[in-house]
Amino acid sequence: MLVLGIESSCDETAAAVLENGSEILSSVISDQITIHSKYGGVVPELAGRCHIESIDRVIRKALDESKVTLKQIDLIAVTMGPGLVASLLVGVNTAKALAYALQKPLVGVNHLEGHLLAIFLQEPVEFPFVALTVSGGHTELYRVDGFGDYKILGRTRDDAAGESFDKVAKMLKLGYPGGPVIEKKARLGNPFAHWFPRAFLEKDSLDFSFSGLKTSVRSIIAKREQREGPVLSDEDISASFQEAVLEVLTTKLVLACKKERLSRVVVTGGVAANKALRQRVVSEGGNHGLQCFFPRPIFCTDNAAMIACAGYYKGRNNLPSVNGVLNLDASATLKL
Ligand code: KG4
Ligand code: ZN
Repeated sequence: MLVLGIESSCDETAAAVLENGSEILSSVISDQITIHSKYGGVVPELAGRCHIESIDRVIRKALDESKVTLKQIDLIAVTMGPGLVASLLVGVNTAKALAYALQKPLVGVNHLEGHLLAIFLQEPVEFPFVALTVSGGHTELYRVDGFGDYKILGRTRDDAAGESFDKVAKMLKLGYPGGPVIEKKARLGNPFAHWFPRAFLEKDSLDFSFSGLKTSVRSIIAKREQREGPVLSDEDISASFQEAVLEVLTTKLVLACKKERLSRVVVTGGVAANKALRQRVVSEGGNHGLQCFFPRPIFCTDNAAMIACAGYYKGRNNLPSVNGVLNLDASATLKL
């Protein structure tokens, strides 16, 4: 079964061709970093416009690289939410137009389900497992009992983990996206140079909160500018901030496994590309007898192969009718 995946929920225009749920024949990702970096974050209107300019080229490239023609595609899978509506609409309308013109079945995929299932592009993890999805828009813990069978265990009450990386990078004027630059700086700094607050919330809570940490970083940077308090380098601030995020994420992940009595974990989403997080989960998880799985970094950040994968599992036994193609709509706040 050949699936064409299309992703445009935020600032990556992506298309991929996937065979039988795991063989990636092509995966093309066009980012918009040069456009948004001067603003220190994604500007929704610019993102939408940029998707319009790129999407045809990206889909054509994915088809060319896979050596598959549009006619051979069995199913089109597109991210329908959550995300920026101006961005989502470009992918959804392109997918609808293709499916209608070619009379192919179309399935709408929840972006978070794409992140959750990205690991299946690599290896079949046995159900049930606990999944931690950490991205620019989400920080969530799920119990996953099967394809389409997800139970939310905890979520962020304010900022997402990736968002806090992006905001700290902006405060330090390090550019966008913040995750990779903070990770690089953190490698050269002392993670114990400053103790930033960790929000563990109520006893046994699996929810997250990163806004206090962000405010605390802001105040340390302000003090540094006024030459008050300890002199901390960008590297030390990055390392100490990252340490606080990693400690909270790994502690809650281990707690979720204990509460659910599960021993397999999948960590996914853009922040899961962070090597220090991966190492921390493996070492901490190992101490608690957990088996840890991570998609390759390129499939942690936004891509269309994970959307094609989720679409494959949604449609493999029951292909949607082509008559319903035009009913699909984008939803900025779609829930999993
Ligand atoms: O999954 P993703 O590509 O898009 C969303 O669905 O949001 O995640 C993007 C987020 C950004 O906030 C980015 O700063 C963060 O993932 N990120 C990282 C790293 N690479 C990307 N955070 C920490 N360390 C990284 N190496
Ligand atoms: Zn994402």
